[in-house]
Amino acid sequence: MAKKILVLPGDYIGPEIVAEAVGVLETVDARFNLDLELEYGLLGGAALDKTGVPLPPETLERARAADAILLGAVGGPKWDANERQLRPERGLLGIRSALQLFGNLRPAILYPQLAGASSLKPEVVSGLDILIVRELTGGIYFGEPRGVRTRSDGEREGFNTYVYRESEIRRIGHLAFSLARQRNRRVCSVDKANVLEVTVLWREIMDEVGSQYPDVELSHMYVDNAAMQLVRAPKQFDVLVTGNMFGDILSDAAAMLTGSIGMLPSASLDGDGRGMYEPCHGSAPDIAGRGQANPLATILSVAMMLRYTLGSPDAAAAVERAVSSVLDAGLRTPDIHAAPGQRLVSTKEMGAAVMAALQS
Ligand code: IPM
Ligand code: MG
Repeated sequence: MAKKILVLPGDYIGPEIVAEAVGVLETVDARFNLDLELEYGLLGGAALDKTGVPLPPETLERARAADAILLGAVGGPKWDANERQLRPERGLLGIRSALQLFGNLRPAILYPQLAGASSLKPEVVSGLDILIVRELTGGIYFGEPRGVRTRSDGEREGFNTYVYRESEIRRIGHLAFSLARQRNRRVCSVDKANVLEVTVLWREIMDEVGSQYPDVELSHMYVDNAAMQLVRAPKQFDVLVTGNMFGDILSDAAAMLTGSIGMLPSASLDGDGRGMYEPCHGSAPDIAGRGQANPLATILSVAMMLRYTLGSPDAAAAVERAVSSVLDAGLRTPDIHAAPGQRLVSTKEMGAAVMAALQS
């Protein structure tokens, strides 16, 4: 039976990078006989402009029916002044939550060809391969109550609730430990258990889950130290597992270790292996429409889709090899352009080169 892929290009550079990733997906579909069926939908600012809401019911319906979702990026200055419910980000958070895509995998891998593009010394980052597993549908992002209220003394105060249920911690823990088993068998759980009760529970549950994986080494680290260690000695990590907000912050820091956030894919999985795949970076309004965006993070997200949802590790590896070969050939979008002798290329040229490498 055909596998359904819902494509949500989103805003600003979203459609540009998604076009290249779709080209790659169609190329592997033909080469590996995957029998994929692609359809398109609206999310974020694009949906606001056409329908008045960031997550139209029709998009959600199609998303529920799809095996996998390929997302570009949402948001931008055009909608920044909108009230919270009508911001493009609400569409993204809404789809994550409605589909219970709780497991966000954000690998930070340094391609040896890009060691010079990192802001850290090559010896600190060469060979870097870490996986951040971020809880994506709970924590302070979704906790209630939340809002801005007026106190009895007339002063306004803003408030959010940082809350995790045991079951939420347990399921992200199991995901992190099972992924560690396919890697170097080390999990570092990041919390703020010296201050926040919710993360005292987080630590307790991680210990409990960890005891079921005796072959995987578990350590704990406070988030401030983890931020420091990520830029001091990032290669000490294998899998990092953490809550929604800490994961948001640490994954951006980890991204930069690799030279460009334009290289990093992500997967957001539910409990049944269905998922949404998107680059870690945003919609980059400043470079939209200029053909300067790096499509590789979105193309590598297609590789994750092939591996985690479409059950085609061979096709995933082929996409990853194709990306590596275009980097070997010296092709660079502006974000990863560092040395003379490399060829500065556009979004489309980069996409076309990956597709050509896949066919050869
Ligand atoms: C991310 C983004 C989102 C988040 C925003 C756009 C809501 O920063 O995917 O990391 O905070 O989760
Ligand atoms: Mg973020």
